[in-house]
Amino acid sequence: MKTIVITGASGFIGMALCRVFHEAGWRVFGGVREPERHHTKFFHPFRCDLPDSVSQSPFQDADVCIHAAWTMIWRTRRDALRTNIKGTAHVLRLCRKHGCRFVFLSSCSAHNQAESLYGRTKLAVEQRLDPARDLIVRPGFVIGNGSVFSRMRDALVGSRIVPLFDGGHGPLQTIHIDDLCHFVRAAVQKKITGRLVAAEAEGTCLRTFLRELAHASGRRPLFIPVPSAITLPFVQLAEFARLPLPLSSENLKGLRGLVYQPSRSDIRRVGIRIRSWRESLSTMP
Ligand SMILES: NC(=O)c1ccc[n+]([C@@H]2O[C@H](COP(=O)([O-])OP(=O)(O)OC[C@H]3O[C@@H](n4cnc5c(N)ncnc54)[C@H](OP(=O)(O)O)[C@@H]3O)[C@@H](O)[C@H]2O)c1
Repeated sequence: MKTIVITGASGFIGMALCRVFHEAGWRVFGGVREPERHHTKFFHPFRCDLPDSVSQSPFQDADVCIHAAWTMIWRTRRDALRTNIKGTAHVLRLCRKHGCRFVFLSSCSAHNQAESLYGRTKLAVEQRLDPARDLIVRPGFVIGNGSVFSRMRDALVGSRIVPLFDGGHGPLQTIHIDDLCHFVRAAVQKKITGRLVAAEAEGTCLRTFLRELAHASGRRPLFIPVPSAITLPFVQLAEFARLPLPLSSENLKGLRGLVYQPSRSDIRRVGIRIRSWRESLSTMP
């Protein structure tokens, strides 16, 4: 029986990955901040509280580690870098020490023009990895019940007016949570290294996606185009004054940094079909 370590096992993607590897017959160790609170048949919980409180023992017999833990909530930029960069380096060191393959869940937001701390930090971590021995997976926007997708849908359902920054023309590539898990499992089983984009090849633009998501939820909000260059300084000023806001400057920079990432050859290499965004939305209740 093969053994896998998955960090961020309490999260949306980490938990789904634990389930898929468990069902495929792997022994799964799930890294969580409070192991005593997790009772599930899908993984054996162990402590993984980044940056440095990580139990070593699961790594000793593990064949592979998928690093899905990442904080998107931070008080200061320094805290974010400590958890994400220092924390990832710590997990990577354990993998190297125990001869365990390292898989990093990055993002399509990781690219040279990224303005957001999220995209730049993901890219910085990618650049520290070895493409000959590690695997980097860049998922598109993940559709499923959890994380950013659920928050976006809830926000749309609760709004009559929705600002569309820069007209919402930025490209959006998605992947259904089930397709992502099967994609990662197939890539791990084929021992692929280097970088893979796990996202539909065509995609759409943010405006079309948001409209159809709202319609699918029975809502017809008013979409108003707003220039992000004008909005960003106001949002930053409001953050400085600690005023409550519906979105952060980090969110806005993330939306400005949407780029198209070619994925066709990676999908062929892994051999998993990825649903289109419309097919994925049609599976959502
Ligand atoms: N969702 C998407 O659309 C998407 C797209 C591309 C890439 N990704 C990447 O996929 C990964 C998982 O994302 P997700 O959507 O599943 O997010 P999520 O539901 O917020 O999961 C994040 C996980 O990281 C854990 N974590 C946060 N801070 C930690 C710390 N200091 N120490 C240890 N664990 C910590 C969380 O644990 P707690 O439960 O204890 O907070 C949680 O298990 C992330 O790396 C994300 O960047 C996501």
